[in-house]
Amino acid sequence: MKNKIFIAALILCIHSFSYAQKSMGIVGPKKTVDPYHYTSVKSVTFSKACVASAHPLASEVGAAIMKKGGNAFDAMIATQLTLAVVYPGAGNLGGGGFMIAHKKDGNSIALDYREMAPSKASRDMYLDKDGNAQNQLSEIGHLSSGVPGTVAGLFATAKYAKLPFAELIQPAIDLAEKGFVITAGEASGLNGNRADFIKYSTKPSALVKEQEWKAGDTLIQPELAATLKRIRDNGLKGFYEGETAKLITEEMQRGNGMVSLEDLKKYLVKERKVISFDYRGYQVLSFPPPSSGGILIAQMLKMIEKYPVASYGFQSPKSVQLMIEAERRAYADRAQHMGDPDYWKVPQQTLMSDAYLAERMKDYDPNYASKSADVKAGLVHESDQTTHISIIDAEGNMVAVTTTLNNSYGSKTVVGGAGFILNDEMDDFSIKPGVPNMYGAVGGEANAIEPGKRMLSSMTPTLVLKDSKPFMVVGTPGGTTIPTSVFQSIVNVIDFNMNAEDAVNKPKFHHQWLPDEVMIEKTFSADTKAQLEKMGYTLKDRGGIGRTELIKILSKGEREAAADKRGDDSVAGF
Ligand code: GLY
Repeated sequence: MKNKIFIAALILCIHSFSYAQKSMGIVGPKKTVDPYHYTSVKSVTFSKACVASAHPLASEVGAAIMKKGGNAFDAMIATQLTLAVVYPGAGNLGGGGFMIAHKKDGNSIALDYREMAPSKASRDMYLDKDGNAQNQLSEIGHLSSGVPGTVAGLFATAKYAKLPFAELIQPAIDLAEKGFVITAGEASGLNGNRADFIKYSTKPSALVKEQEWKAGDTLIQPELAATLKRIRDNGLKGFYEGETAKLITEEMQRGNGMVSLEDLKKYLVKERKVISFDYRGYQVLSFPPPSSGGILIAQMLKMIEKYPVASYGFQSPKSVQLMIEAERRAYADRAQHMGDPDYWKVPQQTLMSDAYLAERMKDYDPNYASKSADVKAGLVHESDQTTHISIIDAEGNMVAVTTTLNNSYGSKTVVGGAGFILNDEMDDFSIKPGVPNMYGAVGGEANAIEPGKRMLSSMTPTLVLKDSKPFMVVGTPGGTTIPTSVFQSIVNVIDFNMNAEDAVNKPKFHHQWLPDEVMIEKTFSADTKAQLEKMGYTLKDRGGIGRTELIKILSKGEREAAADKRGDDSVAGF
């Protein structure tokens, strides 16, 4: 019966949606978040505070927390914990992430809670005796997991929040304990990964049931609820020590993984220095290494800044070709120069300097495709299932957080008795120089495996200020396509003056140096595609690029929020 009601509600919502999408005013927060009746709300202009995330229930929880007096940091914690329950493919306790914030007092913060290589990890751990890369070991199962950072990241964020942690985690506990109805997308994700959950987990879990999952089925996760309660009651120790840590390491031992009790106990969040640069009079704030994202968007935006991109036209052959060439050159640098700055000297200032970037574009020809074979990294004396949350509160605090298990449902290893999935983030290291990882990205020494090192990321949570005031909160999942999606979303808003919804939903493209091809969404202009092919580009159609959550702050302070149409993503606020 409940299923029928949900489906009926969904049909009703779909019919009345075009009005809801365009309306100005209040969508959520509801007094109580209803796990049986919800729908994706794609774009609304709010007057005070809002959240855009990958799931309607998570956005509603975040907005409700702010309505109760919490700020953007409270909302971030509650939203991320809710995603860990309602969006198990990427929302997580067993992964890691990056949070960037611009506080109302004008200060910015970058918190790195990326996973770390376990202390027993070693450079060649994914090579066979003949030195061949065993990619499946870094991509799936117990050995692909790094030491999770998410829970430590949430407690590090709590320092800036107002409400007690116990209040922020309770909605997630309730949703795990009492259940919620799943979307068609979630049903398909769980069904598609069923065989892997069984193969790569050593105990049964709530994510696997006898019959196929259907939209409207209720997912109840008692073991996950118990883990969340241990975190609520014991703080950091509720995850990194005691029962949860024991369950993680027992799972590791049963499946030949490497994460140990000592690794968990030693996990530390690192505060990084925000990357800040100007683009056409706007100040962009983004994430430094171990993310490649902030440097990449600085490089790409600055490489195109001297060209009158707006006058070329949106997704005209000329503007797209210029952006592809900037992407190619930036990603060549990623492969060579970027890694965990605590283990590798990343030449960050040079990579982002005007002189260096002018040199990189010296051989740019507006009529032809460059060849990646000719575009090496510059000489300097660097399922994609991740998820992003964008938040702004009534006081003007902006928070952007991208968090990940790596690909969809991470390692597919559900921690026996603890009910959450572990990441397969070890694949973001370069397991052998020149051997592509699951995103086709190559790397070398800078991103080689070492115990305790953080693997290079593409996550790019980003904030934009105009005249020192909040202007945009943006980010997306998508593996190596993350920086290019963020780059294009920023260009869509700043150069092409788009609203949040268009900036997010217009088709995207991606070039990452190697392979030497342009990935392009199917809905891209056929004419532009034909012209690019004539210039010598190899184009490859691919499904959705990114699931971007973007909040644009309008001149009178209204918050125009957009959640990507490519998924169940949804906005809520007031
Ligand atoms: N695992 C995706 C990223 O961090 O880039």
